[in-house]
Amino acid sequence: MAKETISVLLSEEEVDKRVREIGAQISKDYAGKEITLICVLKGSCIFTCELAKRIDIPVCLDFMSVSSYGDDTKSSGIVRIVKDLDESIQGKDVLVIEDIIDSGRTLSYLMDTLKRREPASLRLCTLLDKEERRVVDVNVDYVGFKIPDEFVVGYGLDYAQKYRNLPYVGVLHFE
Ligand code: IMP
Ligand code: MG
Repeated sequence: MAKETISVLLSEEEVDKRVREIGAQISKDYAGKEITLICVLKGSCIFTCELAKRIDIPVCLDFMSVSSYGDDTKSSGIVRIVKDLDESIQGKDVLVIEDIIDSGRTLSYLMDTLKRREPASLRLCTLLDKEERRVVDVNVDYVGFKIPDEFVVGYGLDYAQKYRNLPYVGVLHFE
């Protein structure tokens, strides 16, 4: 079996600092409102919780799980809702939280689906953006970091369900 090694791309301190900045920006942009954060499981679980802690307006959390048919490192664009939201989002200010946008296929499908449920507003926040890999156009409102086309793990992101618990974002290398 190939040996896997990880090199740090974004340190714990860098990520924490950026999460605080985005939290402050969101608090400002939604001042006077209540916001519903939609955590897209499982990858964005850590980012969603850390970000929620840095938002100082009222926050509701809901969770959704989608599965995109594909292999471990690439999504196919065929998306299935595995776990839907618990609450209706009609009339609410909704912010979808993603771990990473790669081809954009998963998010494009998800945003279309959520838009049809008539939220008052619908925006998208992602911790990481692999811009050069984009196949489908998605409008991203908040981006943590633009990163190069490398396979990354940590801070919620996995490889074969491993490494989600790393407190930093690292590049996975196969030897
Ligand atoms: P997209 O539909 O191609 O944009 O794929 C997005 C999803 O693919 C993410 O939510 C991740 O689950 C997964 N993904 C894409 N790139 C990476 C990566 O570098 N590391 C871990 N997961 C990734
Ligand atoms: Mg994801």
